[in-house]
Amino acid sequence: MGQIYNSKKLMDDIARLQSSHDLIELLSGIQQSMAIYESGIQEVLTKLEILQRDARFSKHNPIESIKSRVKSPMSILEKMHRKGFPISLESIKTNLNDIAGIRVICPFIEDIYTVADMLTRQDDLKVLEKKDYIQNPKPNGYRSYHMILKMPVRFLGNTSETAALPCLEVQIRTIAMDFWASLEHQIHYKASHEVPDCVVGELRECADIISQTDQRMQRLSKQIRCMEDKKD
Ligand code: GTP
Ligand code: MG
Repeated sequence: MGQIYNSKKLMDDIARLQSSHDLIELLSGIQQSMAIYESGIQEVLTKLEILQRDARFSKHNPIESIKSRVKSPMSILEKMHRKGFPISLESIKTNLNDIAGIRVICPFIEDIYTVADMLTRQDDLKVLEKKDYIQNPKPNGYRSYHMILKMPVRFLGNTSETAALPCLEVQIRTIAMDFWASLEHQIHYKASHEVPDCVVGELRECADIISQTDQRMQRLSKQIRCMEDKKD
């Protein structure tokens, strides 16, 4: 994460590519496949919007906000280089599963599983991978729920069976988890050297405090919902 793109080795790789395979062709290939990733994102966003619309009847919306992005060509090349994958269009398609990304921010921890279950139930979305960094936080304290999805992409209303299906990464987390992840990313990105162990340790402590607060907020929300249900 947060690697600088101007690494000499990356530039050398790209220069070699230019003479052997034609860099322009590769970049235009990446650009062309962006449309597929965009429409994949659109498909999932529509499903999330339907979930939000249905939630109007149950008084609780499990989604606070949604962000989405397609990785830029430069960022794709940087990641391929960093991971040591050969740089070609085929290799990019095979090796990168987060070119299209959606981040769903939820109010409470339980909402994360509501959103994940809804996506899992969709007949036209194949779930390739689930990583529950809430039940099993990363050693640095990172918490979030990740899903890698493969999906059919609709072109002009037809489901394309033959086209290579793109993958999409969905990260689902609470407002609190997102707050920590954003700041932790900034701290690492801004540091010109390895972040010292004491800072890593404090970040971990902050993550644990935030997690306890998330759990308290969840309990309070349940308490109020219980009281409301009894009134009805
Ligand atoms: P990469 O795709 O190479 O990152 O490896 P992976 O697929 O094994 O990673 P993972 O699913 O664990 O994480 C993918 C994404 O989650 C990253 O690109 C980040 O957006 C986010 N993420 C994972 N770990 C951290 C972390 O420690 N801090 C923050 N801020 N974000 C993280
Ligand atoms: Mg990944």
